[in-house]
Amino acid sequence: MRILITGGGGFIGQKLARRFGETGSVGGRKISGITLGDIQQPREFTAPFPINRVVGDISREADVAALMADQPDIIYHLAAVVSGAAEADLDLGMRINLDGTLNILNAARRQGQTTGRAPMVIFASSVAVHGGEAPHEVIDGIELNPQSSYGTQKAVGELLLQDYSRRGLIDGRGLRLPTVTIRPGKPNAAASSFMSSIFRDTLQGDTSNCPVSRDFAVWHTSPRTVVENLIHAATVPADVFGYNRNINLPGRTDTIGEMIAAMTDVAGPDAAARITWESDRTIEKIVTGWRGYFAPQKALALGFQADASFCDSVRNFLKNDIA
Ligand SMILES: NC(=O)c1ccc[n+]([C@@H]2O[C@H](COP(=O)([O-])OP(=O)(O)OC[C@H]3O[C@@H](n4cnc5c(N)ncnc54)[C@H](O)[C@@H]3O)[C@@H](O)[C@H]2O)c1
Repeated sequence: MRILITGGGGFIGQKLARRFGETGSVGGRKISGITLGDIQQPREFTAPFPINRVVGDISREADVAALMADQPDIIYHLAAVVSGAAEADLDLGMRINLDGTLNILNAARRQGQTTGRAPMVIFASSVAVHGGEAPHEVIDGIELNPQSSYGTQKAVGELLLQDYSRRGLIDGRGLRLPTVTIRPGKPNAAASSFMSSIFRDTLQGDTSNCPVSRDFAVWHTSPRTVVENLIHAATVPADVFGYNRNINLPGRTDTIGEMIAAMTDVAGPDAAARITWESDRTIEKIVTGWRGYFAPQKALALGFQADASFCDSVRNFLKNDIA
């Protein structure tokens, strides 16, 4: 089977592709090739199948046609501009997160009509679709009430994914990712960027600022677990999703203070001492609009996983990702 990963040069796209390089299969089916599509050249790696790296912009239909040239059986749609960037520039967010997603869905739909087989589309949505009057603990099935342009663009993508699946045009699965931490590399434009920086940068010997207080509760998941959940999404039978193809992924809730304590347990006190505490109203306003507590019963029943502890995430970062 062939797989396309949009945003295949990004943090999660690269980790997902490399994991496929290790497993060589999905749900018992051998992978014959992967296309990594991104606006920036995705990095190379070795795999037991050919890897096609395609540079293109998902907001351009012609570029999307080039990404889909190999007629993928599974499309992981991960390309997006992240929350801070979509909030700072409404047009940019609309173009990439909304028009781009529509281009991917329509290309998948056209492929299904041509081949007679609806391709699977696994969409990286976000818990940012929840907020506002949502209950303190988000349960499955509540109305979406995003409090950011990014969350709104993801919510519209979810609805289209659902409708195209209902019509049998695609086999869509939308996963609302918790904040993925600890993200390696450099800080990015996500409002949640500090939720990785205060661990990553300080473990790497630098200082990092925390713009929210220690008691701020984060709904989070590790890179390793989110990749396993993205892969698992391809193995769940379509009919067991029921009437909603979009689900809240499992994660865990810890306060910033608890996460720092876990880092200290694993790595000693030096990293925590490098955190500064200057509040930032802009970031605070976005992230306090997100929910910190979830009861993702449906996803757990479908076999999606949560991390056992943040200590494991710190250990994994030190083992696999530290610069
Ligand atoms: N990382 C998280 O904490 C998190 C949480 C919730 C949801 N998500 C979602 O998961 C997905 C992957 O996130 P990530 O952390 O890997 O982000 P990332 O920024 O590392 O990767 C996204 C990739 O999309 C690419 N891209 C941007 N615009 C593009 C365009 N016009 N055409 C083609 N490619 C384009 C970027 O170059 C980048 O490589 C995103 O859709 C994001 O919204 C991530």
